[in-house]
Amino acid sequence: MLRLWASMLRIMNKKLIALAAVSVCFALPDMLAAGIPGEVPAAPQIINIRARDCRTLDGQWKYIVDPYGNGYYNYRLVPNPVGDTFFADKSFDADRTKLIEYNFDRNYTLNVPGDWNTQDDKLYYYEGKLWYRTKFDYSKPEGKRVFLYFGAVNYEAVVALNGEKICRHTGGFTPFNIEVTDKIKDGENSLVVMVDNTRDKDGIPTDNCDWWNYGGITRSVCIVETPGTFIRDYSVQLDKSYRSIYGYVHLDGCTAPEKVTLSIPELKLSATVTADASGYAEFNLKARPELWSPENPKLYNVTISCGEDSVDDRIGFRIIETKGTDILLNGKKVFCRGVSIHEEAPFSNGRIVSAEQDRILLGWAKEMGCNFVRLAHYPHNEDMVRLAEEMGLMVWSEIPVYWTISWKNPDTYANARQQLVDMITRDINRANVVVWSVANETPLSDERLAFLSALIDTARELDPTRLISAAMEKEKMADGRWTVDDPLISKTDLISFNQYMGWYTGNSDICADAVWVFPEEKPVFISEFGAGALYGFHGDRTERFTEEYMADCYRQNIKMMTERMPGLAGTTPWVLKDFRSPRRALAGIQDDFNRKGLISEQGQKKTAFHIMKEWYRSLMDK
Ligand code: GCU
Repeated sequence: MLRLWASMLRIMNKKLIALAAVSVCFALPDMLAAGIPGEVPAAPQIINIRARDCRTLDGQWKYIVDPYGNGYYNYRLVPNPVGDTFFADKSFDADRTKLIEYNFDRNYTLNVPGDWNTQDDKLYYYEGKLWYRTKFDYSKPEGKRVFLYFGAVNYEAVVALNGEKICRHTGGFTPFNIEVTDKIKDGENSLVVMVDNTRDKDGIPTDNCDWWNYGGITRSVCIVETPGTFIRDYSVQLDKSYRSIYGYVHLDGCTAPEKVTLSIPELKLSATVTADASGYAEFNLKARPELWSPENPKLYNVTISCGEDSVDDRIGFRIIETKGTDILLNGKKVFCRGVSIHEEAPFSNGRIVSAEQDRILLGWAKEMGCNFVRLAHYPHNEDMVRLAEEMGLMVWSEIPVYWTISWKNPDTYANARQQLVDMITRDINRANVVVWSVANETPLSDERLAFLSALIDTARELDPTRLISAAMEKEKMADGRWTVDDPLISKTDLISFNQYMGWYTGNSDICADAVWVFPEEKPVFISEFGAGALYGFHGDRTERFTEEYMADCYRQNIKMMTERMPGLAGTTPWVLKDFRSPRRALAGIQDDFNRKGLISEQGQKKTAFHIMKEWYRSLMDK
C-alpha cells in the first residue's frame, strides 16, 4: 500500500511540477480540486509586488457574518445561482419590492488587512464564513493587463468581481493573484470575498494547532497593472564558485522570443538574454559580489527589464551549505543564534498588519543577540522576510504541515505542495532565507514519510540553493540516552528537532544528566526548546509558570546543549513573544495565551530573555 501511495505521490509530483508555476486558484487538474464552474483561470504568482504598478484596496471593507453559509447556499444547502448569493452585492434598499435579505452598505466595516477576531469582540472565537465587500472606481488603462493580488486570506477565499465568481483559494499564508483584465470595469466595481476560516482535518494546517485561528483578509489587497508581456517571476542566485550570478526569468504573456536584460549597476553588470516563446529565459554572468551575511547584510539594486516592463529588486548574494556537523555561510562555520516567532503583532496581539510591527519583533530578536529567526509555522508576510534581510537575520521559513495531517489524502498533499511552491516562489530571491521547512512535529508513519519526502524533493527541484529540513521530535533510547530517530533525517540537511526537556519531559533537573546521540553526521539544530511563565509571576524554581522555573529551565537546557549535544549548530527557542492559542486555558496565568514567550504580549522581557541574551553574547565572542 505504501509503495502505491509513494509512487502515486511521485506521479502527482511530476504532474504538479509541470504545473508548479500554475497558480493557487484552482487552475490545478481536476483530480486535485473541484473548481468553480466558469471561474477565470487564475494566474501564476507575480513576485515582488511592491515593485509593480499597484493600487491598494486596503482600508475599511463592509462585512456580513454568515455562520450558516446563508449567503451562498439555499435552505437545502445547495449552492445558489451566483445572482442569489451575496456575491451579487445586491441591496434591499435598491428595490424594496424584491426580497433581498442583505445589504452590505447597511453593515459594519473591518479593516483590511487584518484578522476579524481582534477587530470585534463578537468575532473573537468566530470560525466560519464571513463576507467582505469593497467598491472601487476604476478606469481601465489602454493596453494593460490587470490583476487582483491578495497577500494572504485565512483560510479559504472565494472571490467575485462584479457579481461573477472568479477564484477559490485555499491556504492562509501565501499570496495569490487573479487576472481580471476582461472582468474589471470602467467606473464602479464591486469586489466580494467569501472567507471561511473553518478548520479542516484535511487542511494544511489540520484542525488542531497551537495558535489562534485568525480569520480574514489578513494581508494587503491591491490591483496590479502590467504590460501585455511582463516579468512575472525570477530567481537571481550566486553560484557556489562565488564567481558568477545565475538564474532565470519567467515572462507572462509572450508568444514569441523576447529580449530580457538583467542589470546590477554596482557590479557593472548588464546582460541581455533571449526568452523562448514560453517566456522562459536563463542567465549566467561572471561576477564576484560582496557577500550577504548577518554582519554585513549587503544588498544590490537589481533591475530586470523586458519591452515595456521593468522590475527593480534588492538582492543579496551568499552561499549556505553544510559540511559534516557544521552550517557554513559563505564557507565559514556559523552558529545560528535564533528565536522562533509567530506572526502575531506585539501589544495588540492579532495578525501582523504593518511593517512597523514586524520591525518591533525583529528588533527584539536583534536585542537578544540573534542572527537567525524561525518564522513559524507558516510563511510570514513578505515585509517580515525583507526586513529581516535588511537587519542581518537569517530566516527559517516553513509551511504549516503541522502535527496530525491527513497523509493519505491527495488533495491535502496538493494543498501542502502548492503552499510550498508559493512560499519558495515568493521568497526565492531573499538571501537571508537559508532553510525551507516542510513540517513541524509530525507523527511517524510510512505515509507521512512518503508525503514529506515528496515535498522535500519538490523543494530541492525548485531551489537547490538552500537547506531543506523540518522540525522533528526527540526519542528516548532503550539505554536512556536521547536521540532523533526519524527516517526523514536521511532526506534533510539538518537534524532539526523540538525538545522540551524540563517542560513536557520531566522537570528542569532532567537536563543535568541527559546524554544525546545522533544517527548521522549532520548539523544539529534545536528548532524549539523552552518553558512557560507569566511575566512578573514569581516563586520557587520548582513552581510551574513562575519566572524562576522558566529561567532555571533555560539555564539547564543551555548547559545541556552546549556541553552534551554533539554537532549543535543552532537554536531557535520557543518563542519570542507570548501568543494567543485556544489550547491555553489556565485562568489567571494563560488566559488564551501560550506563555512560553521570552517576552510578554505587552513587550515585557522575562528573566529568561536576559539569560538567552547573555548566552548568545558569549557565542558572539567565539
Ligand atoms: C510544539 C509546537 C509549537 C507549540 C509548542 C508549545 O513544539 O511546535 O507550535 O506552540 O510546542 O507547546 O508551546
